[in-house]
Amino acid sequence: MAAQTIVMASDHAGFELKELLKGDLKAAGRDVLDLGVNSTASVDYPDYGLALAQAIRDGRAGRGVLVCGTGIGIAIAANREPSVRAAVVHDVTSARLTRQHNDANVMALGARLIGAEVARDCLRVFLDTPFEGGRHAARVAKLARSA
Ligand code: RB5
Repeated sequence: MAAQTIVMASDHAGFELKELLKGDLKAAGRDVLDLGVNSTASVDYPDYGLALAQAIRDGRAGRGVLVCGTGIGIAIAANREPSVRAAVVHDVTSARLTRQHNDANVMALGARLIGAEVARDCLRVFLDTPFEGGRHAARVAKLARSA
């Protein structure tokens, strides 16, 4: 089921953390679509943010996980696709609140900023926390508008 699939992508700086998180997802029985990278060879993060955004847009996955050095550049790239709401997450509180309030469908992590155990906790919380809806629903709908 594509909606249950989690798409992942990283640049070279995020490769090792992406692999760690992918292992956790697979161990938990989740379907993972890995769009790379497959090594620490230097690449350009916008290419991978965009590839993940296209997978969300095309319905090949329901949620996404991005990793680069800070999480910022690859999130900026992904957020250029209107159906993507990519949040840079640093801790379990931001992971929880971006699900509850923003209905974020993509989590971006900074491998140079976050510890592996915190990242693993963030992933669990991000995947397990529902959107609250209510007063947040109209605000989230506005996010899809163009400037
Ligand atoms: C790569 O050196 C680094 O710029 C990239 O991983 C990311 O942090 C950009 O936002």
